[in-house]
Amino acid sequence: MKKPIVIGNWKMYVEKPDAVKAFVMKLKRRPQLLSKTDVVVAPPYTLLPALAQVLGTTKTIRTGAQTVSAFLEAKHTGEVSARMLKVFGIGFVIVGHSERRAAGEKDDMIREQIKRTHEAGMTAVLCIGEVERDPHGAHFGVIERQLLQALKDKTTGKLIVAYEPVWAIGKTAGSAEKPAEIQEMVIFIRKTLADILGREQGVKVPILYGGSVEGSNAKELLTDGGVGGFLVGHASADIDSFIEILTALA
Ligand code: 13P
Repeated sequence: MKKPIVIGNWKMYVEKPDAVKAFVMKLKRRPQLLSKTDVVVAPPYTLLPALAQVLGTTKTIRTGAQTVSAFLEAKHTGEVSARMLKVFGIGFVIVGHSERRAAGEKDDMIREQIKRTHEAGMTAVLCIGEVERDPHGAHFGVIERQLLQALKDKTTGKLIVAYEPVWAIGKTAGSAEKPAEIQEMVIFIRKTLADILGREQGVKVPILYGGSVEGSNAKELLTDGGVGGFLVGHASADIDSFIEILTALA
C-alpha cells in the first residue's frame, strides 16, 4: 500500500520563525513516523526562509505554499510568484482553498495558479469542497463543476486533489465528515478525474480529505474513507497534535 500523504496547512496559526524551528526539530526526532508517511508542511510565506533553513538537506519533510500568484512575474504588488517559491525549495502549492475562494478567488484564477505551479515544476494541491451538504445530492454537482473548471486545460502536471467540505473545516474530530460519505465522494471524484484527464492519468491522482482531521479520527478516516491522506489545518500547526496524527497512521 502507498504511504499516506499528510499535508499540514498552517494557515495563519504559526507566526514566528522560532516556532517553526521548534516544530521541525521535534518532528525530525521521529524518523520512524516520517518513514511511514509523506509529510508536507505549508507555512505562511513569511516563514518559508526559516523553514528552509531548519530543514537543510532533510528529505523526509517536504514544503508547500498556501497559495501562489496567478501571474508569472513583475507588476503585481503583494503577489508571490511560482518562481519565487521555487527559490525556497517548495514542492507543493495549495490552490483554490475554500478560504481563498471565499476571499474572491475565481475558477479562472485557480486555473492560472495551477498552470504557474506546473510551469515551475511543483505539485498543485487542488482544493475542492461544497459549502453546504445538500440532502438531495446537489453537492456532487458542485464538486464536479469545481473540478471541470480547474482542470479545463487538461493539465499533465503533478496533481493532488484535496476534498475539503467547507462545513467540516475548523471544528473538532466529531464534526469531520463520516468515512462512508467520504468514500462515496472519493469514488465520485475519481470518476470525474478520469472523465476529465483520461483514465490513465485520472487514477494516479491522490485524493486527500480535509476538515477537522485530528489524531483521534485520522486512522478511521484513512481506512474507511478510502483517501490517500489528509490536508490538515489546526491540528497540523501544533507539533504534538500533528505527531498524534502521524502516530495514528503509522
Ligand atoms: P482544519 O483541519 O482546521 O479543519 O482545516 C482543514 C483545512 O482547511 C486544511 O486546508
